[in-house]
Amino acid sequence: MTRITSVSLRRVLDSRGNATVEADVLTESGGFGRAAAPSGASTGEYEAVERPPGEAIAAAREHAVPRLEGVYAGDQRSVDAALRAADGTEDFSEIGANSAVAISMAAAKAAADVLGAPLYQHLGGAFRGDNFPIPLGNVVGGGEHAADATHIQEFLAAPVGAPSVSEAVFANAAVHAAVAEILEERGVPAAKGDEGAWAPAVSDAEAFEIVDEATDRVEDEVGFDVQFGLDVAAAELYDAERDAYVYGDEERSPDEQVDYVADLVDEYDLAYVEDPLDENDYERFAELTERVGDRTLICGDDLFVTNVDRLQEGIDVGAANSILIKPNQIGTLSDAFDAVELAERNGYGSVISHRSGETEDTTIAHLAVATDAPFIKTGTVGGERTAKLNELIRIADDAV
Ligand code: PGA
Ligand code: ZN
Repeated sequence: MTRITSVSLRRVLDSRGNATVEADVLTESGGFGRAAAPSGASTGEYEAVERPPGEAIAAAREHAVPRLEGVYAGDQRSVDAALRAADGTEDFSEIGANSAVAISMAAAKAAADVLGAPLYQHLGGAFRGDNFPIPLGNVVGGGEHAADATHIQEFLAAPVGAPSVSEAVFANAAVHAAVAEILEERGVPAAKGDEGAWAPAVSDAEAFEIVDEATDRVEDEVGFDVQFGLDVAAAELYDAERDAYVYGDEERSPDEQVDYVADLVDEYDLAYVEDPLDENDYERFAELTERVGDRTLICGDDLFVTNVDRLQEGIDVGAANSILIKPNQIGTLSDAFDAVELAERNGYGSVISHRSGETEDTTIAHLAVATDAPFIKTGTVGGERTAKLNELIRIADDAV
């Protein structure tokens, strides 16, 4: 019933106005699935390779589509193995990780369609009311996502005490609005960055004050615990020649960077810290985790790139206690599942994540529920972000 009869590929727009790959998968009994690849701006050095969409589509049409016809969409492992075989490289540099992930996700949706089940159920999950992925919401940011804003890439609201998905989603939106109020009170104008977070021209120190105050205000309003966290995206700040993290005119040596982040965790009671160090510095990741890992999540994004080999290296040295999961960093849903499973077996939490370049695709909302992930990172406002957040609300309401 779920045998694939056709795969079609096209270029569509992403949220930055760039082209990305969209895939449609049809099965013999009329199942239909559609998915689009997201795209990063602060990409990790070890990610699977995204090819220019036109090239990725041409290569996938030539190598992957003929192999996929006849494969069972309901057997995700077979679909993803066919993609790997068609590509023939370790990093999807032939058909492009963008073509691979779009097809992988579209096949899963086509299979769910045949079964008449929501995608998260087909992927093996169940929604349990008191155990939902907490959305981490980007409310202030800069780095590679906005010019003339903070050096730290993302300040993320973390409504850890929220009693429901919906209350968590609205709390993050309230923090986003509170930040706008505080910026206005301070007379600071702000545009928005690629993910819809405010991108004011303030120092990182001032951004900490603003987000701390915004989360306090919202916490008082909603009556549950609203903390915040960071994606430092430190690989983008690290200058290998100087062996230093460069924050505009300021520099921190790698050891100073560890102290700086450890102090921030204590001062602001940070719930979450992603990529606090360069993607090659497993050793200092481990040092920081040893120091503060009992009270916050230290998460590897560029460090692990959703790759089980890199994750295993991290597990061996205690580099972190959580992993960011971005299916397009590795190319298929099966590979992303493998990373979640390895993480879970070793006591690492998973944070299912969007990219800075997104579409209306909602697959990651289903993936977060399917894997019972403790967190999902998918922005706060803006249509391509609310697509996922609203889908989570629908899943919680059993309305997908
Ligand atoms: P990217 O950023 O999608 O631009 O890589 C998101 C992140 O670093 O988490
Ligand atoms: Zn990141």
